[in-house]
Amino acid sequence: MSEFLWWRDGVIYQIYPRTFMDSNNDGIVDLPGITQKLDYLQDLGVDAVWLSPVYTSPDVDFGYDVANYREIDPKFGGMPAFDKFLYEAHRRNIRVIMDLVLNHTSDQHEWFQQSKSSKNNHFRDWYIWKKATDGGKPPNNWKSRFGGSGWEWDSKTEEYYFHMFFKQQPDLNWRNPKVFNEILEMIKFWLDKGVDGFRLDVFNAFFKDINFTDNPYKIGLTKFDQQKHIYDADQPEMFDFLQKFRKMLDSYPKRYSVGETFMGDEHTAAKYVGDQALHAAFEFSFINNRYKPSAFYKSIEKWENALEEIGWPSYFLNNHDDPRSATRHTRSEDDERLKVLATLLLTVRGTPFLYYGEEIGMRDIPISRKSDVLDPVGRHFWPFYKGRDGCRSPMQWNSEQYAGFSDHQPWLPVHANHNWRNVASQQADQNSLLNFYKKLIRIRKLTPALQKGMYLPITYEPRKILAYVRQTPEQTALIALNFSKKNVGLVLSSKLLGADWKLLISNKRETFPEIRDRKIMLEGDEALIIIQG
Ligand code: NOJ
Repeated sequence: MSEFLWWRDGVIYQIYPRTFMDSNNDGIVDLPGITQKLDYLQDLGVDAVWLSPVYTSPDVDFGYDVANYREIDPKFGGMPAFDKFLYEAHRRNIRVIMDLVLNHTSDQHEWFQQSKSSKNNHFRDWYIWKKATDGGKPPNNWKSRFGGSGWEWDSKTEEYYFHMFFKQQPDLNWRNPKVFNEILEMIKFWLDKGVDGFRLDVFNAFFKDINFTDNPYKIGLTKFDQQKHIYDADQPEMFDFLQKFRKMLDSYPKRYSVGETFMGDEHTAAKYVGDQALHAAFEFSFINNRYKPSAFYKSIEKWENALEEIGWPSYFLNNHDDPRSATRHTRSEDDERLKVLATLLLTVRGTPFLYYGEEIGMRDIPISRKSDVLDPVGRHFWPFYKGRDGCRSPMQWNSEQYAGFSDHQPWLPVHANHNWRNVASQQADQNSLLNFYKKLIRIRKLTPALQKGMYLPITYEPRKILAYVRQTPEQTALIALNFSKKNVGLVLSSKLLGADWKLLISNKRETFPEIRDRKIMLEGDEALIIIQG
């Protein structure tokens, strides 16, 4: 078997800073807090941590508005705390992935402050400035993803600047070679520090059409969705940057990059993956699926087909922008469905990304009043969309008043269920979701077929079961996931039936399941892995 490659064969865990662990009790997470929890992550078995942004930021978009790319925000403990965190993570064989937010900066960034100070300033063309039309209107019809026009008028210098997100997040002018080169230098700064990889925020929006052509109309819910985003994203110039970026990464050993594909489907994502581009990209259909085996079957199939030989898939059920899978797929506090999904995530061919709290089945905090909403997107679109606060609530470590996150009121409320849904209680319960995740991660680590094996779907009972084989020349693992509440039989071919199988894990049994009439009998909500070889 080829050597273990951390980003391909391992498991990556996303931490949303501000809500993981607060070591100095100011209600906000900090890096010493995260460092304290590295033993927990090591015990869980993860190979890498992706940190959402920890750079200096005024937090209009909670870190996704960066005011200095080379600084760690003092509220997180500054650079000394980061250096210690990186050292301690590496000591435990945990890699560190930083978030790179390069489409835009904060309006508080020194570059923008200079840029807006005068039309003659050296930094003026580091951002996208345009004159008003003759009628005094914005230069074209481009919109902001977070609501309203994408153009903001600056009365001092009498021009508009473009922002794909909030007006406090002006877009960088990637066509300016100075911006391009400065960004590459900054990336080198982090690589030299020993950072192992990067997640690129909305990378395919960096370059905009050189002629600022209007986007054509299409049907959609918001003004933004009512446009085909042909001219404000996915410009061919992106490939030149990716090539240079990749060359730089490859000049360091075992570095990694994963891109957050903005708006596009699996084909858009796949076209940016390859030896001269990103190592991997995110494709969002897992997060949008209903709880149906056919939906996940189709997602896997289309992602496998789009990537073919060119790249390695990545999968996630949760992130900091979407309601948690526990909230999407369960109405009660029962975790059996989450065990089915965990088994899928950790056995499908590709890199699994977990989002903090997923392993204990954290649910979104309910949000019922506009005045409680902190996420500005939620305030803008209320009540049609309540924003992203729900999935960002403090990690539930124990049953104390603030869930062991802090002894101070955190910036977002702790979920009321932390009294009993927390790490401490699940550690003590052999049948908990947390212990199930831990076992799965361990099994994955010990089973080459689950890391690198071919993916071969078995499509017998598509309304109830998702079943597939993962196979290397030496080993075959069979994964059967019963998405229904009822007992169902999975029919096996005679070739599979004859094999000498062993039970690896199931959430419903301790011994090998009965085979009756050529069928493996699965219980309702059962996730089963058996192995041969
Ligand atoms: C995508 C990030 O995931 C999201 O949290 C952020 O608000 C936007 N990009 C803008 O940076």
